[in-house]
Amino acid sequence: MWGILNTGILLAGIAGATSNSNNTVNNSKLQTWWHDSGEITRSPVQPSSVRQSHLYSIQVSNSVDQTYYDSFAYQTIPRNGQGNILIPNDLTSTTTASDGITIEAAIGMTMSWTSFLYSADVWVKVHRLDGFGIESDTFVIRPTTLNLTTSVAGGDLFIQVPYSERGSKFSVEFNDNLFDFRDGCSNPTCSYVQDTSASGPYYVDEYDDSMPLMGVEPLDSLLIFASPFEDESLIPNETSDDVLVVPEGRISGLNTTEARIVIFKPGVYYATATDYLNLSSTVDWLYFAPGSYVKGAVEFHTNSALIQATGHGVLSGEQYVYQADPTYGFQNHNVDASPLRMWKGTVPNGQKTTWVVNGPTVNSPPFNSMDFYGDTSAFSVACTDYKQVGGYFGQTDGMQAYPGSVFQDIFYHTNDDTIKLYHSDVTVSNVVVQKGSTAPIIQFGWAARNISDIRVSDINIIHSRWNSNGSNPGIIGSNNLYDPSTASTSATNTSTADTYSSASNIVFSNIRSEGISGPLMRIYALENLHNITVSNVWVEEFGSCDGYENIGISESFMPAMTDGNGNNITVEGFIIEDFMVGDKKVTLDTASTVGNLYWNPDFDVTIQ
Ligand SMILES: *[C@@H]1O[C@H](CO)[C@@H](O)[C@H](O)[C@H]1NC(C)=O
Ligand SMILES: *[C@@H]1O[C@H](CO)[C@@H](O)[C@H](O)[C@H]1NC(C)=O
Ligand SMILES: *[C@@H]1O[C@H](CO)[C@@H](O)[C@H](O)[C@H]1NC(C)=O
Ligand SMILES: *[C@@H]1O[C@H](CO)[C@@H](O)[C@H](O)[C@H]1NC(C)=O
Ligand SMILES: *[C@@H]1O[C@H](CO)[C@@H](O)[C@H](O)[C@H]1NC(C)=O
Ligand SMILES: *[C@@H]1O[C@H](CO)[C@@H](O)[C@H](O)[C@H]1NC(C)=O
Ligand SMILES: *[C@@H]1O[C@H](CO)[C@@H](O)[C@H](O)[C@H]1NC(C)=O
Ligand SMILES: *[C@@H]1O[C@H](CO)[C@@H](O)[C@H](O)[C@H]1NC(C)=O
Ligand SMILES: *[C@@H]1O[C@H](CO)[C@@H](O)[C@H](O)[C@H]1NC(C)=O
Ligand SMILES: *[C@@H]1O[C@H](CO)[C@@H](O)[C@H](O)[C@H]1NC(C)=O
Ligand SMILES: *[C@@H]1O[C@H](CO)[C@@H](O)[C@H](O)[C@H]1NC(C)=O
Repeated sequence: MWGILNTGILLAGIAGATSNSNNTVNNSKLQTWWHDSGEITRSPVQPSSVRQSHLYSIQVSNSVDQTYYDSFAYQTIPRNGQGNILIPNDLTSTTTASDGITIEAAIGMTMSWTSFLYSADVWVKVHRLDGFGIESDTFVIRPTTLNLTTSVAGGDLFIQVPYSERGSKFSVEFNDNLFDFRDGCSNPTCSYVQDTSASGPYYVDEYDDSMPLMGVEPLDSLLIFASPFEDESLIPNETSDDVLVVPEGRISGLNTTEARIVIFKPGVYYATATDYLNLSSTVDWLYFAPGSYVKGAVEFHTNSALIQATGHGVLSGEQYVYQADPTYGFQNHNVDASPLRMWKGTVPNGQKTTWVVNGPTVNSPPFNSMDFYGDTSAFSVACTDYKQVGGYFGQTDGMQAYPGSVFQDIFYHTNDDTIKLYHSDVTVSNVVVQKGSTAPIIQFGWAARNISDIRVSDINIIHSRWNSNGSNPGIIGSNNLYDPSTASTSATNTSTADTYSSASNIVFSNIRSEGISGPLMRIYALENLHNITVSNVWVEEFGSCDGYENIGISESFMPAMTDGNGNNITVEGFIIEDFMVGDKKVTLDTASTVGNLYWNPDFDVTIQ
C-alpha cells in the first residue's frame, strides 16, 4: 500500500501546499494541532504566544485521504531570548556568571519540534522556510537505525513513520545546517569557540588546527514526536464535578481550587516569571490536552496514592530566569535546594505513591527538571512517552527514578545528569538523548548508595559533547562525592567511598552513541560494585584529532577508591561485553588502544 505513495503520486498531489496555513486534522487515524499565536522571533514571545519555528514547517498525512495536514512546529532557543539575566522580566539584569550556556545563544542555535497523535502509518512532510531545496543526500535522520523510508520531491522531504505503540521520536538534520563545536585550545582548560558573532563570547576570527572538534550538532534542530493516541483512562472527564478547566491566559487559582483534576484544553496559558502552578492539596491529576501550551512549573501538595500528569501538551519553563527561586523573588539563586523544578512534590511519611506521567513535552527547564521530597522510599514513577526539549541551561537534568520506577519511550535534551540511577529496582528503556556539556548521560554517583536491580536498555545518543575533561564526560558515570559543604572533595579524591554500601545487579545494554562520543565510563565508585554488566555498546567514534586526545575526554577510568580510613572498595563481576568502537570490537588486548578503557587492576573486570 505504501508503495503507491512511494511512486510519487501522492507527492505530486501536494507539492503546491502552502506552509502558513492552519489546516489540522482530528480523526481516529491522526490528530495534529496549531497555534494561531505563533511568533517567529529571537526575542521573548508575548505571554499568550508560542514560539514558532523560523525554519521548518511540518505537515502530516495519514493513509486514508492522502491529504497533508499542518502540525505546528514549535521552537525553543537558548535563554528564551532573555539573555543571561538574574531578575525576572528585567532584560538589563544581565550577568557574566555561568548559566551553562557558552556559545549556543551567540551562534543562534534553535530547537524546533512537532508532535502529533497517530494510530496508523503516516508520512511527515518537512518544508524548509528558507527556500533550501532538500535533496536525497542532504539530510540524515537520527537515530540512524530507525531506517525510515524517505522520499524527496519539490525540495521537500517526506518521511514515512510506521505506526508503533511505542511511538517514534527522531531528529531530522540537514548537511547545510550543522555546527562544529571546537574547543579553543588542546588542553583541558578551554571551552568552545565560535566564529559566528564577533560581539559574542568565545569569538575567534577563524578556526585553526589547535582547536579540536568536540562535536557536531544541527544549528537548528528539528525533532518529530509521533505518539499513539492517549488511552481513555488517561483523559479526564471534563464535565465531572471535581474538575477545574483552566481559562486560557494568566493562570490563577490553582493554589486555592478544591478540584481534584485540573485540565488545560488546547490554548496558551502562563503563570508569569514570578509565579508557578503551586497546586492546592486537592489536586492530584493534571491533564495537558494535545494543543495546550502551559508556561509554568508544577508543585504537587496532594497526599493521594496516585498522582497523574497526562496529555500531549507542553509544560514550558521559558518565562523563568536560570535557577529561578520562588523563595527569592523568582530571581536567579545559585543554590541547589530551593530553585523551581518543572515537577516537584512532597511525599507524606509512609505513603506509597505512584506518579503516572504520559505524554507531556517539557520545554526549557530552568534547573533540575524533577525532584520529589519527603518520604520517597515508596514513591515510584511510571513515565511513558515523555519529552524534554530546550535543555540549554546548565543543570537541566533528566527525571529522578525513585524506587520501582519505570521510564520508557523518552526523548531528552539535557545539559546535566540525564538518566539518574540513585534508587533500586528501576527500569529505563528506549530513550533518545541529545546531550549538552555537563555530566555523563547515565549517572549513579555523587554519593555512596545502596542500589540494586537496575536495567537500562535501548539508549540512543544522537548527539553528545563535552567541552572539557572537567565536565564529567561519559556515557556511564559514577561521579565522585558531591558535597558542597566540603569544597575540598574534588573530582579525583579517591578516599571518599563508603565500603559498607554497594551497587549490584545492574545491566546497561543496547546503547548506541552516534558521532563523536565521550568515554564509555568514568566510575569513581563510592561503594562496592557487584555484578555490573555493560552489554552491546556501540560508539561511532572518539575524537580523532590529536588535540582532542590531549584533552583526555575519551578516556574511561575506574580507579581504586577507599574510605577515609584507607579501606578499599571491591569490584566483582564487572563485565563489559560486545563493546564496539566504529567497526572494531574491544577485547582485553585492545581495551586501552581501541576502547580507551583503564581500570584498577585489582578489580574483577571481564572484557568479552
Ligand atoms: C486557524 O483556524 C481558525 C479556526 O479554526 C481560524 O479562526 C484562524 O484564523 C486560522 N488561522 C490561520 C493562521 O489560518
Ligand atoms: C479531537 O477529537 C477528539 C475525539 O473526537 C475530541 O475529544 C477532541 O476534543 C478533539 N480535539 C480538538 C482539538 O478538536
Ligand atoms: C535498521 O537497519 C540495521 C542494519 O540493517 C538493523 O541492524 C536494524 O535493526 C534496523 N532497525 C530497525 C528499527 O529495523
Ligand atoms: C462525565 O461526568 C458527567 C458528570 O459527572 C457524567 O454525567 C458523565 O456520564 C461522565 N461521562 C463519562 C464518559 O464518564
Ligand atoms: C495563591 O497564589 C497567588 C499568586 O498566584 C497568591 O497571590 C495568593 O496569595 C495565593 N493564595 C494562597 C491562599 O496561598
Ligand atoms: C506553595 O504552596 C505551599 C502549600 O500551600 C506553601 O506552603 C508555599 O509557601 C507555596 N510556595 C510559594 C512560593 O508560594
Ligand atoms: C578527600 O576526601 C576525604 C573524605 O571525605 C577527606 O577527608 C579528604 O580531606 C579529601 N582530600 C582532599 C585532598 O580533598
Ligand atoms: C548501605 O547499607 C549498609 C548495610 O545496611 C549500611 O551500613 C550503609 O550505611 C548503607 N549505605 C547508605 C549510603 O545508606
Ligand atoms: C552476582 O550474581 C551471582 C550469579 O548470578 C549471584 O550468585 C550473586 O548473588 C550476585 N551477587 C550479588 C551481590 O548480588
Ligand atoms: C582527565 O581527567 C581525569 C580525572 O577525571 C584525569 O585522570 C586525566 O589525567 C585527565 N586527562 C587529562 C589529559 O588531563
Ligand atoms: C587496598 O588495596 C591496595 C592495592 O590496591 C593494597 O595495597 C592495600 O593493602 C589495600 N588496603 C587494605 C586496607 O586492604
